[in-house]
Amino acid sequence: MAIRRLPEGTINRIAAGEVIERPASVVKELVENAIDADARQIDIHLVDGGRTLIRVRDDGKGMNAVDLELAIERHATSKLPDDDLVNIQNLGFRGEALPSIGSVSRLRIVSRARDDDESHEIRIEGGRQQEIKPASHGAGTDIEVRDLFFAVPARLKFLKTERAETAEAAAIVRRLAMAAPHIGFSLRSGERHLLNLQARQAEGEGQKQRLSDIMGKDFIENSVPIDASREAFSLQGYASLPTLNRSQSTMQFLFVNGRAVKDRTLLGAVRGAYSDFLMRQRFPMVALFITCPPEYVDVNVHPAKAEVRFRNQAVVNSLIVSSIREAIGFAGHRTASTNAESAIDAFRQQNYGRQPAHYAPTRPGAAEHGFNEAAQSFAGFEAISGDTSASDMPLDEDTADQPLGAARAQFHENYILAQTRTGIVIVDQHAAHERLVLEQLKAAAEKSEIATQPLLVPEVVNLDVVSVEHFAAAAEQLARAGLVLEQFGPDAIIVREVPAVLAGAKIANLIKDLADDLETIGQ
Ligand SMILES: Nc1ncnc2c1ncn2[C@@H]1O[C@H](COP(=O)(O)OP(=O)(O)OP(=O)(O)O)[C@@H](O)[C@H]1O
Ligand SMILES: [Mg+2]
Repeated sequence: MAIRRLPEGTINRIAAGEVIERPASVVKELVENAIDADARQIDIHLVDGGRTLIRVRDDGKGMNAVDLELAIERHATSKLPDDDLVNIQNLGFRGEALPSIGSVSRLRIVSRARDDDESHEIRIEGGRQQEIKPASHGAGTDIEVRDLFFAVPARLKFLKTERAETAEAAAIVRRLAMAAPHIGFSLRSGERHLLNLQARQAEGEGQKQRLSDIMGKDFIENSVPIDASREAFSLQGYASLPTLNRSQSTMQFLFVNGRAVKDRTLLGAVRGAYSDFLMRQRFPMVALFITCPPEYVDVNVHPAKAEVRFRNQAVVNSLIVSSIREAIGFAGHRTASTNAESAIDAFRQQNYGRQPAHYAPTRPGAAEHGFNEAAQSFAGFEAISGDTSASDMPLDEDTADQPLGAARAQFHENYILAQTRTGIVIVDQHAAHERLVLEQLKAAAEKSEIATQPLLVPEVVNLDVVSVEHFAAAAEQLARAGLVLEQFGPDAIIVREVPAVLAGAKIANLIKDLADDLETIGQ
């Protein structure tokens, strides 16, 4: 389909706005164009976090000379054949991205259409278009954006550090790549290779591999597949078991008809699905793909197309809530590897630890669900049998006055049932442990004497490139807080020292939570 100018009426109905705020927005627009052009391989190169150069090359269908001139004109698009804003099939539809980029940078596009044997080049600098020229180029399109915002220097002031801008651009590429497993992606920043995702099958196993490449093997191993539909909507993807959770919602990815969205209502539905399984302030990891006929969803409500509006939001919400609940409920007692044992140790150190005790399951077979006897030895446990009532158990005076009382039993390696003088308390071990550590760290920080402990064997933690960029940017600050680490290749860090109070904790889990926090602060 050729590029054509949209009629005035259609233009006015498009949610216009500043689409280019930072290098990552350029990357998003160019990569989306390449995906819309049926590319099989997309290569992205950034210099200086994208300030000096952003280059995106694809092997998609390309443009002929006529298309090339129209492509940089405002409101010219090949993607709205009937001016029908209801029936949107592509990622792009406004005909706004390339002219916007061209008005604030030095843009050069070289392209050759698939059925053409000539290639052409066009440049536009600070909005000023130069004449189209023949060029030599293979099939596909090569777009260079140099000196972003040279034409509007005021906007340069709002850019973050090189690493932060690179991390943001990498996050965008990863998100786009999740929804397009059949396309290979590479991302280079200067001389560093940040991402190399090989093309996979479009669906099924291919999607699983791509999600594993991006969200980590851990995610796929500790999540349940979701596959459900209701009325015109279907939902598919993976949702983590409640025991695999993070400190921020940064690992929640939602897509509507292949478009990454950050929609508060949908995220709220995910939160609702886990509300009975997860404590507040903990977030599951999800990658969920909603599909529906295009007329059931309006993507034209937000200039960056990040929010969507469904014709029937209630159906979508209940589809999310019920299918996740059902899937994780069905997974029953499967739990991810967690910090349970170190949490119990911490309790023991808090002067509860007296004699080992054994919990006798009252229900035959209950022990099969991984009840860990070794981990039960804390807090003045007495042998508990099925018919023992709490009042029969003597409460020792010291323990009874502790706010959390005396621990009596542990469930699912996660919850402690404790007895106080007048009642019972159910304690989430992880939360309790975090609180204890936090109090100790706060006390140490006040005296500015955080004791650190060098690790005998420095621990390598594999992360995604985005998190590694954030850690590298925050390394100095973290060292002041007692966490000494360095970058270790493009997708790992090496931890050398930790605050002494955290010695023995699972470093990898700690680092992953911290990664989410850093991403949220946007270091
Ligand atoms: N990499 C590419 N390969 C082939 N054609 C392209 C490529 N990039 C852009 N085009 C063509 O240029 C047109 C204009 O692109 P532009 O990104 O400005 O607008 P759009 O994608 O149509 O809409 P939006 O503003 O929502 O992104 C597209 O409609 C498409 O026909
Ligand atoms: Mg576009």
